[in-house]
Amino acid sequence: RLVYVLNGPNLNLLGKRQPHIYGHETLADVERDCRALANELGLEIRFHQSNREYELIDWIHEARDAAAGIVMNPAAFTHTSVAILDALNTFEGPVIEVHISNVHKREAFRHHSFVSQRADGVIAGLGTQGYLLGLRRLARLLDEKKG
Ligand code: DQA
Repeated sequence: RLVYVLNGPNLNLLGKRQPHIYGHETLADVERDCRALANELGLEIRFHQSNREYELIDWIHEARDAAAGIVMNPAAFTHTSVAILDALNTFEGPVIEVHISNVHKREAFRHHSFVSQRADGVIAGLGTQGYLLGLRRLARLLDEKKG
């Protein structure tokens, strides 16, 4: 069971970027923790980050054939990208949207998510733990599907 973990713009600076909002863990730390948990859950993961919208879209297209589910933090594209929503709508498996910060406590422009129209679940404000909870949820949904 292969799962994609996709990260949008500026998340390469995680740990350095506004640590009062996003914490001190780096994306490499998040990847390491995701890999450890995936191993425990019997999932294989492909973990990617890009600052470019098309690259995220291409990975979603790749996931159509390759992956059973997607955990995605679309970052700022959450609030702007119909193209990422359209791409996710071509993917048939479960999708979990993750935000490190509680977007609802922040500026009004962060309250709307295009991706939430498609996501099976949304996690916000639980820090980087959100990725791990997202993976756990995917594993559960994939188990249920298997029956
Ligand atoms: C974010 C929240 C977004 O509003 C912001 O643009 C990000 C990160 C989060 O993880 O809290 O880059 O998705």
